[in-house]
Amino acid sequence: MKRPTLSIRHFFASLLIFTLFFSLPACRTEAPKPPTGLITDQAMVVSAHPLASQVGADILRRGGNAVDAAVGVQFALAVVYPVAGNIGGGGFMVVRQQDGTAFTLDFREKAPSAAFRDMYLDAEGNAIAEKSRLGHLAAGVPGSVAGMFAAHDSLGSLPMKELIQPAIDLAAKGFPLTPKQAESFNHAKADIETYSTQPTVFGSKENWQPGDTVRMPELAHTLELIRDQGAAGFYEGETADKIVAEMERGNGIITHQDLKDYQAVWREPITGTYEDYRIISMGPPSSGGIALLQLLQLVGQHPAMLEEGFHTVAATHLMIEAERRVYADRASHLGDMDFYPVPVQALLDPAYLKGRFADFDPQRASDSEAILAGEPLAAEKTETTHFSIVDAQGNAVSVTTTINGGYGNKVVVGGAGFLLNNEMDDFSAKPGVPNMFGLIGAEANAIAPGKRMLSSMTPTIVEKGGQLFMVVGTPGGSTIITSVFQTILNVVEYGHGMQQAVAAARFHHQWKPDVVFYEKGAFDSATLQALQDMGHEFKERGSIGRVDAILVLPDGRLEGGADPRGDDAAAGF
Ligand code: DON
Repeated sequence: MKRPTLSIRHFFASLLIFTLFFSLPACRTEAPKPPTGLITDQAMVVSAHPLASQVGADILRRGGNAVDAAVGVQFALAVVYPVAGNIGGGGFMVVRQQDGTAFTLDFREKAPSAAFRDMYLDAEGNAIAEKSRLGHLAAGVPGSVAGMFAAHDSLGSLPMKELIQPAIDLAAKGFPLTPKQAESFNHAKADIETYSTQPTVFGSKENWQPGDTVRMPELAHTLELIRDQGAAGFYEGETADKIVAEMERGNGIITHQDLKDYQAVWREPITGTYEDYRIISMGPPSSGGIALLQLLQLVGQHPAMLEEGFHTVAATHLMIEAERRVYADRASHLGDMDFYPVPVQALLDPAYLKGRFADFDPQRASDSEAILAGEPLAAEKTETTHFSIVDAQGNAVSVTTTINGGYGNKVVVGGAGFLLNNEMDDFSAKPGVPNMFGLIGAEANAIAPGKRMLSSMTPTIVEKGGQLFMVVGTPGGSTIITSVFQTILNVVEYGHGMQQAVAAARFHHQWKPDVVFYEKGAFDSATLQALQDMGHEFKERGSIGRVDAILVLPDGRLEGGADPRGDDAAAGF
C-alpha cells in the first residue's frame, strides 16, 4: 500500500498557487487556474494542523475507520493545536456511514449545576462580559472526552488505546511550532499566565520562535490516564481532582458530581434537501443545521438571482437578506431542546420559509434595526476547529470542536496540562445583550444548570444522488453558518473545486449588527458600490472561518479543501 502523502508540502504548494492567483497582473487575459487541493484515491483527513491530519491518515491506513481517525485527530489536536483543539471543551460529530445511515453526536459542554440565569450580571443587572469569557467561571463542563468514547463505543473499530497513543507521543516527545503558532503563543501567554493559577507551558518561554519544540508532559500524563482508565480517567479520579482543585483556587463552580454526570448524547440529525443535494447536519443545541437549511431554502426561492454568478450583486444581496432573517430566528427560537421547546419542524417548514421571505425586495436592503444595535464581531481572537474525514470504505465524519475563545478561558488545569473552555459565553447572559460574537438571544438560550449553551457549529455532510458528496465545516463563531453555506454554494452553484471553494473570500451578515462583514478581495469595487446603493452597510474584517472540507469528485477520488487562512492541511492516500 502507498504511504499516505503528508500534505504539508502540498499545503505550501497550494498556498503558493493561491498567492499567485491573487497577485497576477490585472491586464492578464487568460483566467488564472483556481487552486486545487490534495487529491487522493481512497481516504482523506483535512484538519487545522498537518500533524493531526497525519495522525488521522495513519489510522485510516492501518485499517481504522473514519470514526477511529476522528478520535485520533481530536486527541492529537488537543496537543498540537491547543488554541482550539481540546479535551477541556466540547463539540459535535456528524457521521454518515457508507450505507447512508447518519448519526449525530452531541458532546457540547453543559452549564455546571451551580450555574444560574443571572450569574454574569452585576448588582444593577448589567452583563459583565469578562465573567463569562475569562477565568474559571466561564467554563462549562467539558464534553470532548465523553464524546470520543461514545463515538468509539458505538462506531469505532480499532482499540481506543491505539487512537490516543499518537497524541500522548506528541505531547511527551514534543512537536515543532509553526510560524503562525509561535505568534499565537506569544500573543496568548500573558493572559494564560494571568488566569491560570499555576505556571503553564505557554509561559515557560520568553519568546516562542517558529520551529521551537513544545513538550507537554502533564498533558501526556492526563492522556495516559484516559488511555488506561477510559472516560473515567478524565471525569473521575486524579484528573477530576485536579479540575476541581483548579476551580477551588480560581473561584470556579465545576464539581466532582458535574464531571461524573456528564454524558454525550446521540441526537437525530437535521436533514433536508437543496436542489439535488441532501444535507445532513447538527441539530440543537447547535443552531447550525437548522440555520443552514433555512438559508439554502430561502435562497432557493430565487434561483435566477443566484445564477447571476459568484459574488455578483444579485446573488450577494439575496444571500445577505436570507442571512438577516435566519439569524433573527436563531436569536429567539434556538436553544438546548432538553430545556426549551425549539420549533424545529416549524422553522424548516417550506410554507413558513415562503412567508419569512415574502418581504424580500430584490432591489433594496431591508432593515434589521428596530431594537438595539449589535456590537462589532469578535474583538477578541476566537478559535474553534473543524476536521473532515472520509475512509477507504466511504464512511464520512464531520467534527467541529471548540473551547470557544482562543485558548478558551485561558485557564490551564494545574498539573493536568490542558486548557478549559469559556463556552458559558455562548449562553445569552441577558436578553438582547450580545455575546462575544455579537449574537443576541433570550429565553431559549438563557442559562440553567445542566443546560447546553447554543452553538453555531455546523459540521455537515452533503449527499448527491444518495451518494456521499461533501464533508464540510469550519470554526468562526457566528460566521460558521454563513461560511458553510457559502462553501456549499460555491461548489454546487458556481462549480468550484473543493480547495477553490474553501479559499474563496467570504462575507457574513447576522441580522444584528446590521452590517455585512467581508474579507479583503471578496467583492470588486463596482459590486460593493452597487450593494451599498441598495442600502447595505459593509465593513472589511480579517479572516472569516477556516473551512476544512472534502469533496467526492465525479470519478470517485477525493479532493481536500484545506483553508489557506491557517496551517490547515490534507493528508490521505
Ligand atoms: O459553539 C459556538 O458556536 C462557538 N463556541 C464557536 C466558537 C468559534 O467558532 C470560535 N472560533 N473561531
